[in-house]
Amino acid sequence: MKVLINNELQDRQEVKVDIEDRGYQFGDGVYEVIRVYEGVPYTLDEHLARFYRSSKEIGITPHLSLEELKQKLILLIKENGLNDGGIYVQMSRGVAPRKHQYEVNLTPELVAYPVPSKRPDKEQKEGVAAITAEDLRWLRCDIKSLNLLYNIMIKQKAHESGAFEGILVRDGNITEGTSSNIFIIKDRTIYTHPAGNLILNGITRTKLLELFKSKGWAYKEQAFSKETLLQADEVFMSSTTAEVVPITSIDGKPVGNGSAGSFTVEIREAFQELIK
Ligand code: PDD
Repeated sequence: MKVLINNELQDRQEVKVDIEDRGYQFGDGVYEVIRVYEGVPYTLDEHLARFYRSSKEIGITPHLSLEELKQKLILLIKENGLNDGGIYVQMSRGVAPRKHQYEVNLTPELVAYPVPSKRPDKEQKEGVAAITAEDLRWLRCDIKSLNLLYNIMIKQKAHESGAFEGILVRDGNITEGTSSNIFIIKDRTIYTHPAGNLILNGITRTKLLELFKSKGWAYKEQAFSKETLLQADEVFMSSTTAEVVPITSIDGKPVGNGSAGSFTVEIREAFQELIK
């Protein structure tokens, strides 16, 4: 496997990561996961714009321009012969002796490589179970930071209870999933939490909102409560890797009639038309 390390492509075996990389010690950095369909990265510009925004928000100045990084990632996909899969990109603040504060002129460390990612066909067709959990993350969930400790704790809890996703609840309202955005449908209107500091504004979420608009489907970017979630006609999650996955049970109780909702199926199919 070829890995992009800063400006250079290297073999996986040759890559060395410094033990004093701040990403490794503090989770001091940002990341993106990009989906590749038939050798072409989907919404690459949108992912890179969010990557540069996240890094700016935490004061990391990339050593590559967005356009340079874009070309390197396209080369990485080509050199790995990646047809159907994902690309993981992360940038840490850099390498320095371990202390919390940092010198502002550190050189960031960039790493990008292919990660396995296949469309979760079964989950998309049959739907998945989810659990709810209190959203105890920090208040800058708009930054795609390497710090995913609470997300992974709840994802693991979901996994161990046989569920696919953990849905987070802050002050009684649904924010998002541990690695996805959450939508509900009630009386043919689609609801999702507004963008802002309480959620990561998913690229899939943005594409779906554009799709709803173009189809003339009623939608509202409006917070909704856990009670409303549990009484929804249909619930689904969206992310780069999951695309659109119906949620058919929450905390052990069925959503609607307990099978993938017909509107969700229509939305998933329309989304798949977009990525063709
Ligand atoms: N996760 N919310 C959170 C907290 C996420 O981690 C993700 C993505 C999303 C959906 O964003 P997008 O549609 O841009 O993928 C929402 C990625 C896939 C991950 O961490 O693996």
